[in-house]
Amino acid sequence: MYVLDPTSISTCPLHSSTTQINMATSLTIQKLMLLLEICLVLFSVTTIATKDASSETVGPIFILGDSIVDVGTNNYLKNCKAQVNRPYYGVDYPGSIATGRFSNGFNPADTIVQLLGGYEESPPPFLALLAHSSNLTGDLLKGVNFASGGAAIITGIGTDLVGNVIFMDEQIQQFATVQGNITTLLGASKGQLLIQNSMYIICVGSNDIMNYVLYHPTTPEVFIANITATFGIQLENLYKLGARKFGIMGVPPVGCCPVSRAYTGSGDCGPISNGLSATFYTALKSLLKNLSSTLEGFKYSLANSYNMTMSVIENPPPEFKDVKTACCGNHSIDGIKDCKEGGYLCGNRDNHLFWDAFHPSQAASKLSAKEMVFGEDPNFVTPINFSTLRKA
Ligand SMILES: *[C@@H]1O[C@H](CO)[C@@H](O)[C@H](O)[C@H]1NC(C)=O
Ligand SMILES: *[C@@H]1O[C@H](CO)[C@@H](O)[C@H](O)[C@H]1NC(C)=O
Ligand SMILES: *[C@@H]1O[C@H](CO)[C@@H](O)[C@H](O)[C@H]1NC(C)=O
Ligand SMILES: *[C@@H]1O[C@H](CO)[C@@H](O)[C@H](O)[C@H]1NC(C)=O
Ligand SMILES: *[C@@H]1O[C@H](CO)[C@@H](O)[C@H](O)[C@H]1NC(C)=O
Ligand SMILES: *[C@@H]1O[C@H](CO)[C@@H](O)[C@H](O)[C@H]1NC(C)=O
Ligand SMILES: *[C@@H]1O[C@H](CO)[C@@H](O)[C@H](O)[C@H]1NC(C)=O
Repeated sequence: MYVLDPTSISTCPLHSSTTQINMATSLTIQKLMLLLEICLVLFSVTTIATKDASSETVGPIFILGDSIVDVGTNNYLKNCKAQVNRPYYGVDYPGSIATGRFSNGFNPADTIVQLLGGYEESPPPFLALLAHSSNLTGDLLKGVNFASGGAAIITGIGTDLVGNVIFMDEQIQQFATVQGNITTLLGASKGQLLIQNSMYIICVGSNDIMNYVLYHPTTPEVFIANITATFGIQLENLYKLGARKFGIMGVPPVGCCPVSRAYTGSGDCGPISNGLSATFYTALKSLLKNLSSTLEGFKYSLANSYNMTMSVIENPPPEFKDVKTACCGNHSIDGIKDCKEGGYLCGNRDNHLFWDAFHPSQAASKLSAKEMVFGEDPNFVTPINFSTLRKA
């Protein structure tokens, strides 16, 4: 059971009236009080209007998934082997801090919310809020990031390699705690409205595929059907908790990450993992279409990370000089362990598609976020883009 204590949370309306007071310091007390009264009246009108036209309301952003969008969750876990809170990770993050992001700087969780607006970076990890709950100040209402490096759709797979991580089902339980705390804080109807107007960014599935390729536990068809059905149940569970706006990032061509190229021997992309990544995208597209026709108010945007990444690999834009090798680490199979101080670090981190053996560079994360948030091409994001979903 997770216990968050949001008693010290202040809500945004308080901040806007404070600004009004500062602007009005030169006025007489009487005028000030009048202004405040008008302000409050205007404010409640705005609130009601916003409630009615829910299209104008944007709630917090919640992020779930794996290392592509983890912003430090795993730092808080014992017996976790998928931890990167050490240089050179974070070398391009403000202050060169290794926050636990699997990136040289910002990752897609950051670059997406930056473009959606109102955020300097991803909301903080749930486990960070839990650890610091005694001085929680409003963070909960800006959103929470539950993503954990090594996480998969199927609970428990790959733990021989990554150790203790937070799988999707547990991330959803953590979200249930936050949902309950927000409802307690704001009251049932306001809380529920906020939860519905929130956006849920989810990036998961790569680790399921990597694990399948290592162990081949069943046929590809059964495997894809299983992860698709399981993911569908997870989305329904989020829906039952009030989630409505789902921004889903499909799985990139995992066969083309440097670690997979190392496995093939030839340096080519791994055909089996790429095939599964593409097939899973098609299954996801069908799943989301079905969910939106059966669950009232279910809205989604699906990013075709497979296509986005393949198009950069096949036709690199001029800013990317290297779309094959890892910028950090010694190009060996044991990719994450190798990216560390004293190891290999490329000369120009901004012209590499991959940061380490598994993960996109900050530059790649910025490029893909642009496509997801503002893109018009249905081969890359469908049926609407993330910015349209946010306002939907
Ligand atoms: C937050 O939610 C958890 C789980 O429901 C609960 O135990 C805890 O008391 C809640 N905290 C507050 C302040 O509501
Ligand atoms: C908030 O909590 C963290 C972790 O316990 C601590 O480092 C920090 O000093 C606290 N901040 C305040 C203002 O109490
Ligand atoms: C998926 O496979 C796992 C075992 O790997 C099994 O426990 C689970 O029931 C399956 N789920 C579905 C929906 O087929
Ligand atoms: C979506 O619904 C169609 C028609 O009922 C079905 O054939 C298909 O298997 C479903 N897709 C998924 C991924 O559940
Ligand atoms: C993107 O996806 C479409 C089908 O959805 C496919 O026809 C096209 O070739 C793909 N493009 C790339 C670059 O993979
Ligand atoms: C990576 O290669 C460099 C240069 O060859 C070497 O100094 C370093 O020890 C290697 N690091 C690891 C982690 O293997
Ligand atoms: C994508 O986003 C842009 C900018 O917000 C918007 O103008 C455009 O209509 C969107 N496209 C789709 C297909 O949603």
